[in-house]
Amino acid sequence: MTKRRTFLKTSATAAAGLGISSSLSASFLAPSSVLGANDKITVALIGCRNQGWWDLEDILKQSNVVCLTLCDVDGSVLADKADQLEKMGHPKPNITMDYRVVLEDKDIDAVIIGTPDHWHCLPAVEACEAGKHVYIEKPLANSVGEINVMLDAARKYKSLVQVGQQQRSGAHWKSAIEFVKSGKLGTIRQVKFWGNFNYGAGNMPVPDSDPPAGVDYDRWLGPAPLRPFNKNRFHGSWRMFRDYGGGLLSDWGVHLLDMGLWAMDVKNAPLSVQSLGGNFANTDRALEMPDTLTVLYEMEGYNMVWEHNGGIERGPYDQGYGVKFIGSNGTLVADREKWRVFPEGSGEEWRMEAMDPQPSDHKSHLNHCENFIRAIRYGDSLNAEIEYGHRSALFAHLGNISYWADHRVVYDEKQRRITSSEKADALLTPAYRAPWKFPTV
Ligand SMILES: NC(=O)c1ccc[n+]([C@@H]2O[C@H](COP(=O)([O-])OP(=O)(O)OC[C@H]3O[C@@H](n4cnc5c(N)ncnc54)[C@H](O)[C@@H]3O)[C@@H](O)[C@H]2O)c1
Repeated sequence: MTKRRTFLKTSATAAAGLGISSSLSASFLAPSSVLGANDKITVALIGCRNQGWWDLEDILKQSNVVCLTLCDVDGSVLADKADQLEKMGHPKPNITMDYRVVLEDKDIDAVIIGTPDHWHCLPAVEACEAGKHVYIEKPLANSVGEINVMLDAARKYKSLVQVGQQQRSGAHWKSAIEFVKSGKLGTIRQVKFWGNFNYGAGNMPVPDSDPPAGVDYDRWLGPAPLRPFNKNRFHGSWRMFRDYGGGLLSDWGVHLLDMGLWAMDVKNAPLSVQSLGGNFANTDRALEMPDTLTVLYEMEGYNMVWEHNGGIERGPYDQGYGVKFIGSNGTLVADREKWRVFPEGSGEEWRMEAMDPQPSDHKSHLNHCENFIRAIRYGDSLNAEIEYGHRSALFAHLGNISYWADHRVVYDEKQRRITSSEKADALLTPAYRAPWKFPTV
């Protein structure tokens, strides 16, 4: 198994290790077949409750993939998901609360990481060190310092790292991006993203309490600061608390920003980032991230603008969330259901042809999981290689840093520093709580 994995890694990931753009990589570096169609690929899931489980389900729909181990720090989630796996006809998995047990298992080829954002970096870096491939949920991690070290680890250890930005595998997103790139919209001067979601308003406060039975709460906190258990900061709703997540901007923002970065072929950090926001809609909720936020990204020759509103679900073009590319000939507007073009001009003289809405086939997640397995088995290029997860997380986190630091932020990508202020620079990397140590690569 180890020998097989070594062969698989050196061939399928040679391109990433050489720093070659992933769109070019597999086509000329990977062999036409890395593993046979009948060879088994073994996986484990770390963080099983919600999204990680969906990832595993779609990964197990690929032929000859077996799940050996489930890992979670909540004993009832573990028992429930192990039971479900067996009921679905899969072999009984091993279970553990310690992700390091998974990484020590030489029989596991790839791990899926579906933990909350503050628990992405350590298992991902250590998985790369342990010679495993990684399907990791978005955002890549909860800080700029973490995403940087994760990128370094993936490159150093030549692991395939697919980030859960599944829109990259959606056929209608791909055609929307191609349309933008075709130039038919004319000069694009702004790319706007919006995400209006009820959950962004936060829950009503509840008192601190004991953690539920069977939960290893200290391990759930991991590198985050020690504090009493509170249900609002736990399963699902942790995203609105700074130690674990980055609110709507890093939760939904990375998916939508990614579409703008893809279409506009962005390969650098923004020139500057300025955020304004606050908890304006509700002042009685339990959350730390702003329910209202606008972020201006200064780009070379155009602007990008993110906007979110927690507690409402209506938005421009009657879409609660979306992305729009504003061109001189027309505007392309997209969400997960469709993309449309609104031509400029009038009935007498339109600047471009109108077209029917282009619908989604709703297969992006399944395609994304298939792409990950094909990358391991056959050397296909990853659709959301870590570089893309890194870039959209960088944009999202810089937006949050500008909000927290309360001024315009300039990030120097070479130095990996915020040069505009020490206050903002200090927010790039979290302090890890002992015994967890910030990884070095
Ligand atoms: N790609 C998408 O569209 C999408 C959608 C939803 C969530 N997500 C991402 O998926 C990740 C998980 O989100 P969720 O909604 O499933 O969260 P969740 O809180 O529902 O589930 C997280 C699980 O991880 C477990 N966990 C926590 N620390 C752990 C550790 N150290 N080791 C093992 N297990 C641990 C928890 O007990 C819980 O079962 C997040 O990064 C989120 O942003 C992505």
